[in-house]
Amino acid sequence: MDDLIKRAAEDLALANNVVALTGAGISVESGIPPFRGKGGIWEKFDPMEFAHIDAFMKDPAKVWNVLIKEMKDIVDTAKPNDGHLGLAKLEELGILKTVITQNVDGLHQDAGNTDVIEFHGNFAWQKCMTCDKRMETINVSMSQIPPRCECGGILRPECIFFGEMIPPNHLLRSRQVASQCDIMLVVGTSAIVQPASFMPVISKQSGAKVIEINPEKTPLTGNISDYLIMGKAGPVMKQIIEELEPLL
Ligand code: OAD
Repeated sequence: MDDLIKRAAEDLALANNVVALTGAGISVESGIPPFRGKGGIWEKFDPMEFAHIDAFMKDPAKVWNVLIKEMKDIVDTAKPNDGHLGLAKLEELGILKTVITQNVDGLHQDAGNTDVIEFHGNFAWQKCMTCDKRMETINVSMSQIPPRCECGGILRPECIFFGEMIPPNHLLRSRQVASQCDIMLVVGTSAIVQPASFMPVISKQSGAKVIEINPEKTPLTGNISDYLIMGKAGPVMKQIIEELEPLL
């Protein structure tokens, strides 16, 4: 693994337009569970019963009670870890330009990244389903479930449920930055949910190197990605930065 970390540092030192695609794995070390695999959210809850827009429309109180309330408790207090901080440092060094994230936890922005495309929306804001008024999630009281706007309408998080469309501007911009980068860094995603997982394919087709950081192989491994650094995002990003800084 040390050789690959060195190789990544050397590749990054030569690059000037790096884009990262991140997934739930980068936030695991911040205490936020992933969706798939051991301890994953979808092991506990059936996504079609709790994370599909039709399920929310049918019974918002059930989805708030079971899924959203728990997410709010975790996301309200989570802090960026070395994985997020490493990507923020890469931006500070002028190497990383954009983070495309499938996460809704806002931790890339908390770490200091300034250009973050929230592919699946964000959990920081709630929107009234009747009058569209927005409210910060941290200020939403849980005394009434589902929480309501002053107008009486039901609040919903600004993230994408299954069955909803990716915001077209996020999709267009992601495709654009993916096609223009010289390295696509894929961190902590199982790379099975489309269309996010297609972004590294676009980068590869456009001539970029694709580097994965993940403790497990993904469908991109040995196929789209040039190499996989098999480890956790926090320690791997920290070591990459340590190797990279003397090269600049
Ligand atoms: P997944 O839960 O599918 O995958 C998490 C990935 O992170 C796996 O490949 C793990 O091996 C890896 N992982 C675990 N711990 C890690 C660590 N410490 N460091 C680095 N990697 C680690 O999450 P996503 O790929 O983000 O969609 O899932 C994509 C989408 O599926 C989510 O955005 C969500 C979900 O359904 C919506 O909610 C619309």
